[in-house]
Amino acid sequence: MEKLVSLCKRKGFIFQSSGIYGGINGCWDFGPLGVELKRNLKEHWWYTFVLSRDNMLGLDASIIMDPQVWVASGHVEQFHDVLVDCKECKKRFRQDHLEGEQCPECGGELSEPRAFNSMLSTRMGVSDDSAVEAYLRPETCQAIFVDFKDICSSNRVKIPFGIAQIGKSFRNEVNPRNFIFRSREFEQMEIEFFCREEEEEKWFEQWQQDIWSWYLDIGVKEEKLRWLEHPKETLAHYSKRTVDVEYKFPFGWGELQGLANRGVYDLTQHSKHSGKDLSFFDVLNKERYIPTVIEPSAGADRATLAVLCDAYAEETVKDDLRVVMRFDPKMAPIKAAVLPLVKKHGLAEIADTLEKRLRKKFTTYYDHSGAIGRRYRRQDEIGTPFCICVDHQTKEDETVTIRHRDSMEQDRMPMDEVDAYILKRVSIRDVC
Ligand code: GAP
Repeated sequence: MEKLVSLCKRKGFIFQSSGIYGGINGCWDFGPLGVELKRNLKEHWWYTFVLSRDNMLGLDASIIMDPQVWVASGHVEQFHDVLVDCKECKKRFRQDHLEGEQCPECGGELSEPRAFNSMLSTRMGVSDDSAVEAYLRPETCQAIFVDFKDICSSNRVKIPFGIAQIGKSFRNEVNPRNFIFRSREFEQMEIEFFCREEEEEKWFEQWQQDIWSWYLDIGVKEEKLRWLEHPKETLAHYSKRTVDVEYKFPFGWGELQGLANRGVYDLTQHSKHSGKDLSFFDVLNKERYIPTVIEPSAGADRATLAVLCDAYAEETVKDDLRVVMRFDPKMAPIKAAVLPLVKKHGLAEIADTLEKRLRKKFTTYYDHSGAIGRRYRRQDEIGTPFCICVDHQTKEDETVTIRHRDSMEQDRMPMDEVDAYILKRVSIRDVC
């Protein structure tokens, strides 16, 4: 984990927020490479679960909602962590994260447990006396329930259908830890899938399969994934059933995403608290009812961390250590680097023109400084799947070499075939 965190900082994937001020706990910034990686992941998710399906709709709702939303959802009442403080070293812990009855840091005596609401709040309004306390949403899904009526009346939807949203969520985590795994500001990718109650099990199983396939599609190794069923006694207040997808991180198994059967809980609560009828008229069955909700809820940061952990590899090549990020080409932040063998003899100009052409189709990088072997290694370290080398033969027959990151093998091909060759292998959508 330490090696990965250091590579992420050194290469500009992820660094701590406000670093020059000492850093703020639980907040992270995605640098130039990290932002591309996370965008690829979110785009892939959106394409898989929204754009390529005919019964899914998207939403991008505001982060701050009417405070009543969080009363209705149960968060004001129930979204608590139970905390204990160490009387010796003064550190604070979540009680459910402790194994013994002593402080895990210094062995000191712990205080009595007390509840602490995990929602982050802010004040909204221009003057002190008119300002009201509002919350930064702790989950994106509530907006989907609150906007349910508007979405249904503005679109022709038939049960079953789903609404998806990607966006920021905030939780005042007691112990943000394990790099971006547990943060105070993070991004969720959530779906609320509305179906008939008698079909809840069928859809739950279907979503289990679809979620699993998505992690494999983005290149996560299957042997590092597992399901965890929540026992009935530990289910969240809204859930009839929850299973988690877990990933084997270097620090142990951790939750990547949940899949919950929320039943009719949320729409019923918001109907009661808002006084608006959120039932649905099912034209096919000529019936009005509150649909049952199956919720696949994923974390974009945790999925990004899983992709980073899975990609990291070290190997010895000719007595030299090679660090290589073996990203699936669809996830790689830079798809192709264009490298002239040498700067002279007009090779740099040809490479520069080629790179400008490719840049319009996918992310590229141009580099002419240093020995070619060193340049290849720099690209390996950031996970670039293809390196195109413009050499002396290019001037004679307009061919270039393509070096493959994982095998380090090189093929020669006509320069005008490079675009299609790479595009086909790196595109999230089917480009053929
Ligand atoms: N709407 C349901 C819901 O929010 P959750 O299990 O609390 O369920 C869903 O959160 C996902 O959001 C988690 O599986 C995880 O991937 C991500 N997540 C939750 N808290 C997080 C945190 N503090 N830091 C990073 N990701 C988090």
